[in-house]
Amino acid sequence: MQPDKNPQKIMNLFNEISTYYDLMNNLISLGTHYIIKYLVIKELEIKPRTIVLDLCCGTGDFTKIMSKLYPRSKIIGLDFSPEMLKISKLKNKNGVFMQGDCTNLPFKNGEIDCITMGFGLRNIQDRQKAIKEIYRVLTDSGKFLQLDFGYHNKVSKIFNFIVPIFAKICRTNPEHYSYLLISKETFPEPDELIKEFESHGFKLVKKCNYLFGAISAQIMQK
Ligand SMILES: C[S@@+](CC[C@H](N)C(=O)[O-])C[C@H]1O[C@@H](n2cnc3c(N)ncnc32)[C@H](O)[C@@H]1O
Repeated sequence: MQPDKNPQKIMNLFNEISTYYDLMNNLISLGTHYIIKYLVIKELEIKPRTIVLDLCCGTGDFTKIMSKLYPRSKIIGLDFSPEMLKISKLKNKNGVFMQGDCTNLPFKNGEIDCITMGFGLRNIQDRQKAIKEIYRVLTDSGKFLQLDFGYHNKVSKIFNFIVPIFAKICRTNPEHYSYLLISKETFPEPDELIKEFESHGFKLVKKCNYLFGAISAQIMQK
């Protein structure tokens, strides 16, 4: 069964967990999440003077890595949670951030050269609307990178044991991290997601698997 992804509820959840979001990510991924983000962003080979939009930017890891790897691009982070954005701004002193909704992007058609989204799409109630918006605002042959939990394999199941342990140690609200696990289990596997992206007009450029496919990325092109 799909978890409740009412946008207001999701925003409240991320507002509440914002202060320990990074710590929990470091713990539950055993420090690997940042390395994975770095590796996948390197795959993008973003050209200088391009506009890159990081959707569901959260606490700003992607924007931080991209501004180091691609200092000559214009990078914009967008998220609907003000509390997550606050942390993003602290971590990216010169970063450009905006509050917004991925299902109603505040950009014109064909305005953005590249869109990234890390661990975001899984949390969006109307996923098809978000994909449609991403396609709309991208330039012709613009790229879209989606990174999240991947195949529902044995390695992925390890998270089901690790997450509750660290959630307890960090004294988080148990509901927040049970949502994470249910959303992971019900999120489409990479091949299904690729079909969804293709149905909106995207073409597959590259698939990238990490932690034996438990974490997976798709690079798509308009
Ligand atoms: C799991 S966090 C990912 C943060 C970051 N990208 C990372 O990789 O660590 C998901 C983020 O998506 C944001 N989010 C969820 N639905 C959204 C929507 N419809 N529009 C904008 N942001 C959204 C949440 O506020 C949260 O910050």
